[in-house]
Amino acid sequence: MLRTEGVRKSYGGVRALDECTIEVGEGTVAGLIGPNGSGKTTLFNVITGYAKAEAGNVYLAGTKITNIAPDKVFTLGIGRTFQLTRIFPTLTVMENMLVASRHARAADRKRAMAQLEFVGIAGHHAALAGTLSYGQRKLLELAYVLVADPAVMLLDEPAGGVNPSLVNYIADRIRELHAAGKTFLIVEHNMEFVMGLCDRITVLDSGTVVAAGPPDIVRTDRRVLDAYLGEDVEDST
Ligand SMILES: Nc1ncnc2c1ncn2[C@@H]1O[C@H](COP(=O)(O)OP(=O)(O)OP(=O)(O)O)[C@@H](O)[C@H]1O
Ligand SMILES: [Mg+2]
Repeated sequence: MLRTEGVRKSYGGVRALDECTIEVGEGTVAGLIGPNGSGKTTLFNVITGYAKAEAGNVYLAGTKITNIAPDKVFTLGIGRTFQLTRIFPTLTVMENMLVASRHARAADRKRAMAQLEFVGIAGHHAALAGTLSYGQRKLLELAYVLVADPAVMLLDEPAGGVNPSLVNYIADRIRELHAAGKTFLIVEHNMEFVMGLCDRITVLDSGTVVAAGPPDIVRTDRRVLDAYLGEDVEDST
């Protein structure tokens, strides 16, 4: 469904991605893990057009989508959330939902409200987004992406900094969307969350894939343990 092949991306002297090849099967929940600075967000940025690959390619359902603009990637069916949520704190929750729709017609509002209900924050639709808790902001961003009904969803640390009960709630929403046929690629440092949700996990270290496979295998892989050595894997920054 989604594939990167030999992607390379550098920032100054730092090689953020080096020959990065990953594969996300249709209808799967794939996990992408690795230590801080291993290139996870950069890979999301390359896939979604926010960063340009210097080499390699990105494919969506077999079609090459390398280095096309973010809005185009979005219309092709790849939605994403950001590690640091990109909501507008001085707009209401509903206004945030409608920023991309030019006319904010009744039908748009209705669709937006349905997604707010799905993520459980419809009761806050008239509140300023800045008053939401950190976890609720993540839910707002998720609702925003869901309105476009993307086939593939890239979530960058959906559970990072979120309180434990809300983490479980977010996991359940992902399970529900997965059951409805959506494909996910999820970056997350919370191992319990990742292991409980993902069919397959890819491990990045210094921009390169060091392991990929089912959660059980990845969990005990020596290269994975090495990559995380000296790191608190639960510590999301
Ligand atoms: N816009 C940028 N400008 C300069 N360097 C960058 C930029 N984005 C990422 N990098 C560098 O690229 C490397 C990979 O960063 P990236 O954010 O992709 O890591 P990550 O795996 O998402 O880490 P974390 O788990 O902390 O979010 C790091 O060395 C980082 O400093
Ligand atoms: Mg990151």
